[in-house]
Amino acid sequence: MARDFTSVGVIGLGTMGAGIVEVFARNGIDVVAVEAGAEALAHGREVLAASTGRALRREKLTQDEYDALHAHIRYTTDLADLAGCQLVLEAVPEQLELKKEIFARLDEVVSPEAVLATNTSSLPVTEIAVATRNPKRVVGMHFFNPAPVLQFVEVIRTVVTAEDVFDDVKALAERLGKQPVVVGDKAGFIANALLFGYLNHAVSMYESRYATREDLDAAMRYGCGYPMGPLALLDLIGLDTAYEILDTMYRQGRDRLHAPSPIIKQMVSAGMLGRKSGRGFYTYA
Ligand code: CAA
Repeated sequence: MARDFTSVGVIGLGTMGAGIVEVFARNGIDVVAVEAGAEALAHGREVLAASTGRALRREKLTQDEYDALHAHIRYTTDLADLAGCQLVLEAVPEQLELKKEIFARLDEVVSPEAVLATNTSSLPVTEIAVATRNPKRVVGMHFFNPAPVLQFVEVIRTVVTAEDVFDDVKALAERLGKQPVVVGDKAGFIANALLFGYLNHAVSMYESRYATREDLDAAMRYGCGYPMGPLALLDLIGLDTAYEILDTMYRQGRDRLHAPSPIIKQMVSAGMLGRKSGRGFYTYA
């Protein structure tokens, strides 16, 4: 029988995790939202409050829907609170060892029937899966930023993912109003494999002073009809996340397209992470 997923957990309340919590709660699913410490938890709550507050002001949510959404979320710093969840989705930073450690701990916490999903953008889902005792129940469920707005999810199936797990996660994505696509476990899956070479190329044009940031972004917005230019999009994604994704893809494929432009690492070291830190290629109030 197909799983109904009425109760899920999300680990990590950064840009993606907070957005994913919002998507689940918006669709009437109880969410246990987990962060490592009180400060990160408070920050995650703020991200969610800002996003849902904007949706309320823009009349994407009524006051009743807003209240119901927040009533579905329980915040915690204790992984043990995930015990009753039918699915746990991990959305921590793109570091393989950290993700493997979390998945190994989840074995001790959740029921043997629970599905374990990772929102990784580029790391091997198979390696994360084999950190658990039952890799058959592990799947990739990759959302796009901003998760409450973009209607797309990549479902990543490894060679060991059980058919029913995979089918149920795909059905869940549809229930959340997303268009799911099925993809194998290869760095960058579909969208990031196509997107990040382009973003990296834009950075190298900027770095070599070939064109200004405004002109690079204008070219793709007005010339090609993209909703935002590449440098503004990198600020939205986060330069730290973008670096990790490029670096992983480069190490796996060794293609020059994905060798991270040096300025990305320099900006990350300087704390210029994009929108989330107030400054990236652009400055934010
Ligand atoms: N819930 C529901 N609706 C919401 C919302 C929320 N929390 N927040 C915003 N919205 C709605 C707004 O009301 C608005 O709706 P209308 O157009 O009907 O008014 C719409 O969503 C757009 O929001 P904004 O007006 O705030 O913002 P915008 O018009 O400037 O668009 C954008 C911003 C959606 C980010 C758009 O520029 C865009 O799609 N950019 C490209 C983003 C992209 O490419 N993302 C992928 C990044 S790669 C990735 O994520 C993968 C990875 O692994 C890193």
